[in-house]
Amino acid sequence: MNLAQPLHELTDLSPGLAEFRQAVVAGLSASPKTLPCKFLYDVEGSRLFDRICELPEYYPTRTELALLRARAGEIAALAGSGAALVEFGSGAGVKIRLLLAALRDPALYVPVDISREHLAAAARGLAQDFPELPILPVCADYTAPFALPVPPGMAPRRRVGFFPGSTIGNFTPEEATAFLRVTARLLGPGSLMIVGADLPKDPAVLLAAYDDAAGVTAAFNLNLLRRINRELGAGFDLSAFRHEARWNAAESRMEMHLVSRRAQVVPLGEASFRLAAGESIHTENSYKYGIEAFIRLGESAGYRALKVWTDPAGLFSIHALEVPG
Ligand code: AVJ
Repeated sequence: MNLAQPLHELTDLSPGLAEFRQAVVAGLSASPKTLPCKFLYDVEGSRLFDRICELPEYYPTRTELALLRARAGEIAALAGSGAALVEFGSGAGVKIRLLLAALRDPALYVPVDISREHLAAAARGLAQDFPELPILPVCADYTAPFALPVPPGMAPRRRVGFFPGSTIGNFTPEEATAFLRVTARLLGPGSLMIVGADLPKDPAVLLAAYDDAAGVTAAFNLNLLRRINRELGAGFDLSAFRHEARWNAAESRMEMHLVSRRAQVVPLGEASFRLAAGESIHTENSYKYGIEAFIRLGESAGYRALKVWTDPAGLFSIHALEVPG
């Protein structure tokens, strides 16, 4: 195989409509009602999330970017030359560009994302900026184990996982441990895992970040109902719900809810779901881990904590973890 030839074939393991319907029916049948946050990211949801990242109240993106900019050299030194970079959840591509630019002779880039369109567009854009770099996108739900599409004959020095954005906070601690275990097995002994984690802070700062003045986060949350209407033929009346951000101190997490403005019945195919006035559909958790708590999380998944960086204001952290062996 000619490894100088970049590869852009997309491996598609994304969840289908049946899985989406089943998850929605299960969530709306539960008490309290929930919907999985991974389905927030259709084309419109991904676009809205990119806008959230630009909001003045939403500090995580710009704080993590500044931190990465300051520490990319240190991270690249840990990775060594010829590393294979695996990104879990490829975003707008700014962070990965920073990291790739700092790495010495990266051998391969594998972006893994649940949104096929977003993934393909991001891979195309990156291919233009890094024409020499082989890129192998995988469209998958990375919470479930999958195989890395590493071309035969390619022997990168080190595999480096990259999970920025504090997306790890969307999992419960149990799910986060399971996810980290999956990544440790996928990447293999001696690999490096770079994870961004939002830190606990003044709830007022958190509440503003998850309920911005321009209403972009509200639109992002409500878009999930629009998607369910479009893809599953449900009958959600979007004007009958309002976005709500809550700080759950006991669990150290931000929550997003869609609160029913009135008593209503929502049709979904054969089924229908009754909501009382004020009843909520819990759509997202965003756990905030202190440094010690996150290190314990990584260790419970079999990682060794190598290094942690934080910004001067103590808003955000980036952890370097290592798979022993
Ligand atoms: C992409 C999961 C990191 O939890 O902060 C932003 C998603 N939700 N505003 C987060 C989100 C509401 C975001 N993550």
